[in-house]
Amino acid sequence: MKARYVLLCAVLAAAVAVSQDTTRSVWDGVYTADQAKRGESAYAVNCASCHGDQLNGGEMAPPLAGGEFMSNWNGLTVGDLFERIRTTMPANNPGKLSRETNADITAFILAFNKFPAGDHELPRTTEALKQIKLEAEKPKK
Ligand code: HEC
Repeated sequence: MKARYVLLCAVLAAAVAVSQDTTRSVWDGVYTADQAKRGESAYAVNCASCHGDQLNGGEMAPPLAGGEFMSNWNGLTVGDLFERIRTTMPANNPGKLSRETNADITAFILAFNKFPAGDHELPRTTEALKQIKLEAEKPKK
């Protein structure tokens, strides 16, 4: 029993080390331009009525772009943002959209906030999305 427990701890520690090593940020090209385009259409249908065409917010809804938005999310992960959208939005019908559509819309929000596109689409699992950090400032390499 004891040996197994030690082994399990070693495996977990190794897994944590690997996941920390592979942590990416929104500056690493984590979505594709096509995905953001699909997200733009889905946003127009499902979100723009409250959050505005230019993601600048409305009477009740906060902006989804710019300094205030980024300071809310800075240091969290794309997974956190995705889960917030997936479980609470659209506010008039939460949970209505598929993981795929939510990932597309998240890609559009990243694009609108001027994070660079890349070669791979944003994943649809929360676990994978939690590996991608939201950083307002481009890290110095
Ligand atoms: C019926 C109006 C309405 C619609 C439609 C709507 N939202 Fe919202 N949204 C709100 C309101 C109001 C809040 C703030 C209060 C709250 O958290 O419920 C909010 C908050 C948010 C937040 C949190 C922002 C922050 O910085 O804390 C995000 C992200 C968000 N909405 C994304 C979306 C997305 C993406 C869609 C489309 C899938 C969407 N919303 C559709 C009204 C709406």
